[in-house]
Amino acid sequence: METVLVVGATGHIGVSAIKAALRSKRNVLAIVRNQESANKLFKHVGSADGITTVEADVVSDTGVKGVVDQVRAGKLPAFQHVYSCVGGLYDGIPLKDITISELRYNMKVNFEANFLAYRETISYLLEQGRPATWTLCTGAQGDWAIRPLPAMTQGALFSMATGACRENEKTNVRFNEVYVAMRVEVDEVAAQNGTTSASEFSSVYEEILARPEIRGSRVRVAKREDMKDLQYTSKF
Ligand SMILES: NC(=O)c1ccc[n+]([C@@H]2O[C@H](COP(=O)([O-])OP(=O)(O)OC[C@H]3O[C@@H](n4cnc5c(N)ncnc54)[C@H](OP(=O)(O)O)[C@@H]3O)[C@@H](O)[C@H]2O)c1
Repeated sequence: METVLVVGATGHIGVSAIKAALRSKRNVLAIVRNQESANKLFKHVGSADGITTVEADVVSDTGVKGVVDQVRAGKLPAFQHVYSCVGGLYDGIPLKDITISELRYNMKVNFEANFLAYRETISYLLEQGRPATWTLCTGAQGDWAIRPLPAMTQGALFSMATGACRENEKTNVRFNEVYVAMRVEVDEVAAQNGTTSASEFSSVYEEILARPEIRGSRVRVAKREDMKDLQYTSKF
């Protein structure tokens, strides 16, 4: 059985990716900050079956590396797919008031952690030589820039995704960006707020996993219909 490594596993999007992986009969290796985050994840997914959790600090440059080292050593399950969605910082500070430490912290959490997830896992997937996927979640805030601080971090992710699509054009790894222009929340919160639930949104990742023709692409999800009828275009 295949396994999906999820980085940012305990968030709204991460829970959705886990639901997709489980529904498509795959196991999950979820990186969590601590046991409290792991419990939150199990609660939102509704079960711990098929999920292995491992504690690591994904914003440090050794966090994901340490997880991959453990996989290589056979202490954790081998994985064939990666879904990365670390972030969630969403401050609306005007550009002129952003301090350098706020800028760096936002880049660290919203951008760097996803970059590190890629850097530390891609060689492992390439070495295996078998069909694999790597999926990055980004947001339309990067274009709208109504909140410039998180927007700038998304802009950096857009470029990273294009670079990764180019680098993997002819490899065994299908790299795709999921560009979200709607609000997705774990089921319980979505029901309160009238937003899209993680369960509904999970159909996007299920489709990506199932469809080998989707590669090197941005999958744009702006409305409910886009979750079933995927709208994707090549990144370059
Ligand atoms: N949800 C949406 O509707 C939506 C829409 C567009 C784009 N996106 C993008 O998708 C990504 C994830 O969004 P989300 O809504 O799922 O965010 P979220 O619910 O806040 O989850 C963020 C994830 O990142 C982890 N994280 C945050 N700060 C961390 C830190 N300092 N150290 C370690 N882990 C940290 C969280 O871990 P803990 O649980 O331990 O805090 C969680 O797993 C973001 O880049 C966002 O821009 C989301």
